[in-house]
Amino acid sequence: MRVRSLGFATDVAVLRAGGSMVVEDDDHLVVRTPSNPGYWWGNFVLVADAELLAHGVEVFHGEFPDVGHLAIGVDGSDGAVPKKITELGLEADVSVVLTATSVASAGVVDAEVRSLSEDGDWEQLLELRRQDDHPATDDVYQRRRVGEVRRLVESGAGVFLGALREGRLVSTLGVVCDGSGTVRYQHVQTDAGHRRQGLAGHLVAAAAQVASHRWDVDRFVIVADPDGPAINLYRSLGFHECELQVQLARPPHSSVTA
Ligand SMILES: CC(C)(COP(=O)(O)OP(=O)(O)OC[C@H]1O[C@@H](n2cnc3c(N)ncnc32)[C@H](O)[C@@H]1OP(=O)(O)O)[C@@H](O)C(=O)NCCC(=O)NCCS
Repeated sequence: MRVRSLGFATDVAVLRAGGSMVVEDDDHLVVRTPSNPGYWWGNFVLVADAELLAHGVEVFHGEFPDVGHLAIGVDGSDGAVPKKITELGLEADVSVVLTATSVASAGVVDAEVRSLSEDGDWEQLLELRRQDDHPATDDVYQRRRVGEVRRLVESGAGVFLGALREGRLVSTLGVVCDGSGTVRYQHVQTDAGHRRQGLAGHLVAAAAQVASHRWDVDRFVIVADPDGPAINLYRSLGFHECELQVQLARPPHSSVTA
């Protein structure tokens, strides 16, 4: 299956670059991250269209008999959510995929801005990540996610920037490129006590510059929650919406057995 959507194509490219395994079939992909089995969107089935949802669920159970969650991505760009999700106990998450060919520069910030690369940086990133994310995620999960970031950086496929104040990491994001010309932003986050001071905007712009020096870039891609705090910022920096991404998931310990 050839992934059509920019959202899933770049998700899969980032996962591959971080060491995940991807097995392709005619109408679906199986993505597996053995180093982090509890990472839903590192262990999922991507189906070619909404009609294949039931098939995707069957494939998922066959491929991941021991994980608690169920995660199915629906390739496409219109954001249509399959009607069957309720009977399968799945919840839909529809995100906006935005793209830009160039990113506007953002204002000056009162912080040291640099790439993350040292042991202490990964501990600080873990600390910041603990503030964020789903309440169901635990520390082991977060450590493994930071380990994936480190592998991306050490392999040269990714750059993670940080803004530090008095030596403390207060804002961060990553950019990853698989050599295709498309650069995907990852995990934009600012410490709750340092928001709305221009830090994330500055890093989004700085990362575009770093990426353009490092890779041959045709376009930048970023994914946002349509109702989240970041989407307007991305628009103001030159990103525009190009598609909607549908992710369907059921958490572990759900009572539905389908
Ligand atoms: C989204 C997030 C990363 C933004 O970080 P941030 O450092 O506050 O971002 P910025 O300060 O650059 O921009 C945020 C807003 O503050 C505004 N702003 C920037 N500097 C400002 C200042 N000095 N005074 C007042 N407002 C300011 C920006 O214009 C922007 O406004 P907008 O939302 O209306 O576009 C942060 O809220 C966060 O970590 N949220 C949780 C994780 C998350 O949702 N990440 C996004 C994943 S897609």
